[in-house]
Amino acid sequence: MPKKQTIHILGAGALGSLWAAKLSKSNEVILILRNPTHKTHNYQFIEQELTTDVSLPCESATSTNNLIDVLLVFTKSYDTLLALSQIEHRLSPSSKIILFQNGMGCQQTLIKTLPHHRIYAASTTEGANSPTKGTIIYAGKGETWLGDISKEKPECTIETEHLTALLSSSTLDVFSTKDIWQRLWLKLAINCAINPFTALLNCKNGEIREHQLFKSSITPLSQELSSAIQLNKIELSAEDIQTKVEEVLEKTANNISSMLQDVRAGKPTEIDFMNGYIQTIANEHTIPFPVNAELLKRMKTQFNN
Ligand code: PAF
Repeated sequence: MPKKQTIHILGAGALGSLWAAKLSKSNEVILILRNPTHKTHNYQFIEQELTTDVSLPCESATSTNNLIDVLLVFTKSYDTLLALSQIEHRLSPSSKIILFQNGMGCQQTLIKTLPHHRIYAASTTEGANSPTKGTIIYAGKGETWLGDISKEKPECTIETEHLTALLSSSTLDVFSTKDIWQRLWLKLAINCAINPFTALLNCKNGEIREHQLFKSSITPLSQELSSAIQLNKIELSAEDIQTKVEEVLEKTANNISSMLQDVRAGKPTEIDFMNGYIQTIANEHTIPFPVNAELLKRMKTQFNN
């Protein structure tokens, strides 16, 4: 029997646990946790009507075990730099690091912090949530796009293809792309136009469509997002953003967004890496984006983060 590929997963939130459960069927998956209390991490994984008990080996971030070959990073954007610096002694230039973070900013910081490492980004629309501790629900089938972000000029290398095949062994739909930045910016726009509304209005994704706050903001907000993204040399029209947001709202109507999940769990939100990142672009270029600025202000006031 060929030896199974070892995959380390950093961050065992809902999405990390979904990938861990799916990849562990045909790979050796090891979770890296901040303070593991046991040798294994156990949870129930619910997919449609089927519940499976998952039990995976785990290590602490400071463990001095072997070098890591493939690392999937699911930590929150604001935790990622610290989490990766804690395991830097286990990374070599041949380690493959795949970032799954929402929002924008942490990818650029990591490329600068780890200039000799292979860094990939994944943009995923898979949905998972954790209604109670120890239970992970696979909430909605999506797709995942993978690309190399450590190269100046984007290209689809053999390595990207290998990693795509490895992630596909999860049975989730995974595709390689050389235009990963385009996808990351589009995902950022979608997150900026959905997540803060779900948090402020405390409702499911689909329900924001009935609220005046969303109805009056979405067109001017899409225009601001398009302008901010074009300042970063990515072509994405306001119409395309709005159409995509409507599509995602329809597909994920019953989902609780990651931001609302954070608010309900009493965790900080990723607002600084979403609408906060758009505000940074506004500041750099001294261009006002008033609808985005107002959303950001309301998030900061209401949730104090
Ligand atoms: O952050 C999220 O929850 C998701 O990216 C999205 C697309 C808003 C759907 O819930």
